[in-house]
Order: sequence, then structure tokens, then C-alpha cells
Amino acid sequence: MTDNLTVRTATPDDAPALLAIYAPYVTDTAISWETEVPTVEEFRRRIVHTLETYPYLVAERGGEIVGYCYTGPFVGRAAYLWSAETTIYLRPDCQKQGVGKALYAELERISKAQNITNLYACIGYPVRADEHLNSNSADFHAHMGYRLVGRFEGCGWKFGRRYDMVWMEKRLSAPDEQPAPLIPFPALERQAQYAIRPIEPRDNAAIETIIRACLDEYGAPHVGTAWADPDLGRFSEIYNTDGNRYWVAVDETGAVVGGVGIGRLTDTICELQKMYLLPPARGTGLAGELMTTALAYARQHYTQCYLETLGNMTAAQKFYGKHGFVRVDKPVVETEHFSCDVRMLKDL
Ligand SMILES: CC(C)(COP(=O)(O)OP(=O)(O)OC[C@H]1O[C@@H](n2cnc3c(N)ncnc32)[C@H](O)[C@@H]1OP(=O)(O)O)[C@@H](O)C(=O)NCCC(=O)NCCS
Repeated sequence: MTDNLTVRTATPDDAPALLAIYAPYVTDTAISWETEVPTVEEFRRRIVHTLETYPYLVAERGGEIVGYCYTGPFVGRAAYLWSAETTIYLRPDCQKQGVGKALYAELERISKAQNITNLYACIGYPVRADEHLNSNSADFHAHMGYRLVGRFEGCGWKFGRRYDMVWMEKRLSAPDEQPAPLIPFPALERQAQYAIRPIEPRDNAAIETIIRACLDEYGAPHVGTAWADPDLGRFSEIYNTDGNRYWVAVDETGAVVGGVGIGRLTDTICELQKMYLLPPARGTGLAGELMTTALAYARQHYTQCYLETLGNMTAAQKFYGKHGFVRVDKPVVETEHFSCDVRMLKDL
């Protein structure tokens, strides 16, 4: 029954179709606890606002929208950032045909990619099933791997009756795992345009050009920085050796847009090296992907990762800090980068 079913990102122009699905849930059921049907304008505003950070997805069959789902902030305070609240509504005649499952599967895949750790659903629950509410949603969520975390008795009032509410939870990662930085949904979508792979000889010239352009952009001196590195155009040779690696990021056309390397300093300490991205690839989450790739390799070979950068590369320092690097006073070992005045270290 999921033949010809597609799931795509919603647009603000979907507002009338989505509101047509939602309105009867407001007027006729205690599934939604809104009591006034929002205007199309308000619904459009909600879509736009959600998409600034979270996925908003629609399911289509035969060119018609048959359901939608999205996530949003859970509670809203900063420490809850990695938890998100889910919402899902289908056209009543399209229920029990696998549409909900398809939407939730995609929502969960995206949430994991965003580094969300916990999903929560707030669900109206009948004291006694009636014409406005049954346990269908809670049962569906249980089937999708959500567990009941609490039942709130009689906390809702609609149609002249009290209704219970339940919160259900699905954990996407182990509860003691440190969450990686949250990737906003728009950045994730842009990031999907890029791929990361180990450097090959054909990439040498492109990465050399990118590094020189980035260093010039920040007014880096040509002496005592990577600019002067004689190996700048030979990364495929020097990094494909024991304990050393370099990865490039390429866009949809195959053009190199940046890269990152891991180089051996001592038997236990490596250096994060030559992390540069062209301006269009910045702010897309790609840097985080490159960092994750490099650190995964570093962890297999070393216990600490060091880096040096320039004091005026403040965005880079903030980014390294987010990934667990802390400032250190002295170089861990002497490198040729004597113009690099900021040094950072991370335990792997
Ligand atoms: C809840 C809702 C989104 C579920 O979507 P759906 O398309 O009907 O569910 P699916 O057909 O994709 O079912 C997915 C799986 O869950 C199971 N399932 C669905 N409803 C179930 C229920 N009430 N009890 C137990 N299992 C259920 C299906 O058997 C299917 O199992 P499978 O994994 O073996 O294939 C949908 O019924 C709906 O829109 N309901 C009204 C709005 C609503 O309640 N929204 C939630 C507000 S909190």
C-alpha cells in the first residue's frame, strides 16, 4: 500500500493542503488539543518556523498530500536541545496503510543525522474511548518503539469532557553518550550535496589552491604557516602513509570544496591539519562531517589530537571548541607553523 508513496520536505505553499488534513482533528477530535482551527497564514508561519531548525515532511501519493509530520523543540530550554517533540497527522482515509510508518522512518533518520538523542510524543489518551479519542496514536507509537514515560490524568478539557495525556519517548542514542553538536535541518539538506572521500592524486592541485585562497582570505603570512609548506601540492603522497590521512569534500559536480588531514606528531599524539573549506561550503555542517571523519580515524591510532590555528580565525576556534578541543599554552611539539598563535588539544 506504500506503492507510489513519496516523502518530501514541506514548503510553505503546502499550508492549505496540510490545514485541510489538520482542521477536522481540531474540530471533531481530542487528538489535537487546539480548539480553534488556525488560519492558513498561521499554518504557513508554523511550517516556515519549524523548517528553520527541524524537518517538516509531507507524504504524497498520486500527487496528493496524504499526511505530514514534523519535529519541534522539547520544552525549549537550552539543555533540552538534543530532544525533539514529534507530531504526525494523516488523512483519515489513508491511515493503516503504512503512511505513518514511512513518515516516521524518515523523521527518525533525519533526527539521527541532526544528532538528536531523544524523540518525544505528547498524546491525548482517553479515560474511556469515545467518539473523539481512542488509544490508536499511543498504540501506533508503542509499535514504533516509543515507551510510555508518564500519564497525566484529566489534564485536558474538550467537548465538555476531561481527557488524559501521555508522554512517550524513543531514545535514538545511549543515555550516557555525549551528544555531537546539533545540525539544523537546512544545514543537513545542504550537506547532502557533499561527499567526503580519501584524497587521490587528481585532487592535489585543487586542495592546494583552496588552502592558499583561505590563507590569503585571513591575511595569513606566507612564512611560518601552511602557505610555506613544500608538501602543499603533494597531499595524496604524503598523507597515504602510516598514521597519516587526508580527506577531501566534493560537491555534486565532483569539484573539491575543502578537506582535512590527520598527521602523526608522536606515537600517541596526532595533529588535525589543513582543515579548509571554500566559502559556499561553510555553515552547511560539512565541516562537522569532515571533523567526525578525521577524529574517527585519529581515535584508532592516537590518544590525543592537537591543532594550531591563527588568532583571527575565530569562527574556526569556536568550531574546534564545540568538538572538544581546549586551548593549551605551549606547542605539544615544535611544528613549522611558528606564525600560528593558537594551540588546542583534545583527548580522543
Ligand atoms: C497515528 C497514525 C499517524 C499512524 O499512521 P498509520 O499510517 O495509520 O500507521 P501505519 O499504517 O504506518 O502503521 C505502521 C505500523 O504500526 C502498526 N500500527 C498502526 N496503528 C496501530 C495501532 N493502533 N496499534 C498497534 N499497531 C499499530 C501497523 O500495524 C504497522 O505495523 P508494521 O510495522 O508491522 O507494518 C495515523 O493513524 C493518524 O494519523 N492518526 C490520527 C492522527 C494522530 O493520532 N496523530 C498523532 C497525534 S499524537
